[in-house]
Formats: sequence, C-alpha cells, structure tokens
Amino acid sequence: MRVSRRSAVEPFYVMEVLKAAAQRQRSHGDVIMLCAGQPSTPGPGPALDAAVAATTTQVLGYTESTGILPLRHAIADHHRETTGVDVSPEDVVTFPGSSGAFTTLFLAAFDPGDTVAMTRPGYPAYRNSLQALGCEVLELDCGPQTRYQPTVEMLAALDEPPAGLIVASPANPTGTIIDPEELAALARWCEGHGTLLVSDEIYHGLSYGRPTASAWQTSREAVVVGSVSKFFSMTGWRVGWLLAPPALRRPLEVLTGNLNICPPTVSQYAALGALSPQARAELEGHRQRYAVTRDLLLRRLPEVGLRDYAPPDGAFYAWCDVGHLTDDSVAWCRDLLADCGVAITPGVDFDTREGHRRVRLSFAGSTAQVDEALDRMAASPLLQGR
Ligand SMILES: Cc1ncc(COP(=O)(O)O)c(C=O)c1O
Repeated sequence: MRVSRRSAVEPFYVMEVLKAAAQRQRSHGDVIMLCAGQPSTPGPGPALDAAVAATTTQVLGYTESTGILPLRHAIADHHRETTGVDVSPEDVVTFPGSSGAFTTLFLAAFDPGDTVAMTRPGYPAYRNSLQALGCEVLELDCGPQTRYQPTVEMLAALDEPPAGLIVASPANPTGTIIDPEELAALARWCEGHGTLLVSDEIYHGLSYGRPTASAWQTSREAVVVGSVSKFFSMTGWRVGWLLAPPALRRPLEVLTGNLNICPPTVSQYAALGALSPQARAELEGHRQRYAVTRDLLLRRLPEVGLRDYAPPDGAFYAWCDVGHLTDDSVAWCRDLLADCGVAITPGVDFDTREGHRRVRLSFAGSTAQVDEALDRMAASPLLQGR
C-alpha cells in the first residue's frame, strides 16, 4: 500500500487527550474538559436562525468558491468596524474554517523548500501542514521577555529573510497579545524583505484589556486570517477567511475551487447571521464570562501550585510551567485525568522543545466547572510536590 512520505507529520496530540477523556467519561462520568480549544456555547441565536431559514428557503448547492457576496460584504464590514481599515468584499476569500484557509494559502504562497518562520510555542497545525507541503519550518524561540511573540530583532538575526512569517495574536497556546507597535514593525520588516506576513487574528474579540492590532493597519501586503470559530462560538460550522493582497487572490480562488469547491453553504448563511449586529450582545456576553473565569483561574492557579504561566491577554488559554512537577507532561496529563477526571492538554503539541514541561488549560468552559476542576487539582497527589 502506498503512503506518502509527506504525510508522516506529527499528530495533533490534543486529539489523543480528547479520546482518553471520552473513555473516562464513559467509565466514570465525571470528566471536566479544560483541554478543548473551543467555546462551550452554541453559535449565537441569529446564526442559528439564519441556518434554519437557509435550509427552508435556499437550495444550498455549491456557491462561488470565494463565498457568497453578502458574507464577504459582512466580513469586510466587520474588519472595517473593528480595525478602521477600509476592507472591501474583493479583499475577502472564505474557506472551510481558517484551517482550510491556511492550507490553501500555504499552497498559493510557498513552494517546497521555502522557509516559513513561526513561534515556539505555537499552533502545531501551522508546522505540520507546512511540513506536509514540503516547506522548511523555522521555529523562533519566544519566551516571557517578548510575551512569547516574535520581534524584528529575531528576524534580523536570521541568515536570510524567510519566505513567510506566521504570527498569532491573541495566540494559541499562550493567549498572549503582540504589542501593536511590534506588529507594525514586523509588518514593515516583512514588506521590506519580501517575507509574506500571515497574521492569524482568529482570536480577535477575545481580549481582556490589552489592545489588539491588525496587520492590515500597517501593511496590505500581509495576509490576515479570520474565522467564526472562536469569538463567534462556531467551531463546527467551518467558516474562515483571508484578507488577501491582490496578487494572491486569483491563486487562492483557483486553489480553493479545486480543493474545497466552497465552504459549507448552510454555514455561510449562519456566519452571516453571526456577523450581524443582532448577535453582538450574546457574543460580548461570552467574552465577559471568559473574563470572569480567567480572573478566577489567575487567582487560584498559585493555590494549586502553578505559579509560572504566560500572561493570558486574550483567547481562553493558560500556558503553565509544570517543570517542578514532571518532565513528561503527556504522562502527567494522563495521570491527572485518571486521578481526578480533569482533562488538560500536554504542551508537546505546541512546543517541540519545552512542551514536556508545559501544559495548556482552556477556560472556555463554565466558571463553575473551572472552579471545580481547580478544587480537584488542589486535592490531587500529582500537585502535592508543589
Ligand atoms: C491559532 C489558531 N489558528 C487557527 C485555528 C483553526 O481554527 P478553525 O479552523 O476552526 O478556524 C486554531 C484552532 O484552534 C487556532 O488556535
């Protein structure tokens, strides 16, 4: 049986945690999930209404591959309102999730052998999909000194400019936000050195005080990535998008037409509902709940012995150092699940070097659940060495 060499990439280990958590749930029925990188709420009411209406009034066949025009209009309006940048529907290409956007963009922008830089720790699917496509991934070591974000100094120290740089702010797994001045400086550096800046802004809207900037506020040669998954609480609907510079639009359109045909049509209508002003209050309510849960988590993490974590400026993650408790975060997370039914994610997905000493906790669940998880962790022998 033929299997390609390029498919030999790392799995997304969080999926293994989800599998183990499902088993524990079947046997004990007591699992609290702090491992999933997704909201625990359904899509906003107007999105659900729009989906129902679409199933009764639309054919729901294929759409144009870049997405229906009203959706691209709504996405352009959303970016204009949130960033002040003049975005038009022609700038927008939609995909099946931002995941679909990333693969298509990597194909459209990079050739095998091209080097693309990203942060370590960082979102593993960037690394794994780039490698599957034959690109070289350059991981930039990013620590607390730079809020786990890249800087112009790091790029300037490279032997040659990379073909691409991916930044995420707020980031997964750290939740940190890149300072607007640094993002602007990176965008200028990339423009000046022929490096394609890919700015993953899918967690925009989920921040707790620090300002978030968009790459397009500085450079329209960058690519901005968006999604309905996080702020809009619609992971399973699979709608994401790119704001793309003119030279990339046609390659993206041609590639996505071949690879995906179009994003799921019912989801495009749902996304249109999610982007409507009527959905705002509900979505802002989610953000406020995350803020309350985040405060609780930050108050209680030291009590359970987790004192060293990245500043969770946004998204819904706490990236914690467990090096004083274990140097095998995979086994430690497995043992924690077996001991008290709390499922958290080992850091190995996100950091190929230090991940065995890190874990990621998601606070997207209910405040009461997170509180209960912390009670259980405080009582666990696995945290007694703290
Ligand atoms: C930083 C980051 N980018 C992209 C994605 C992919 O999201 P989606 O394909 O649901 O838009 C995720 C999902 O967790 C993420 O954390």
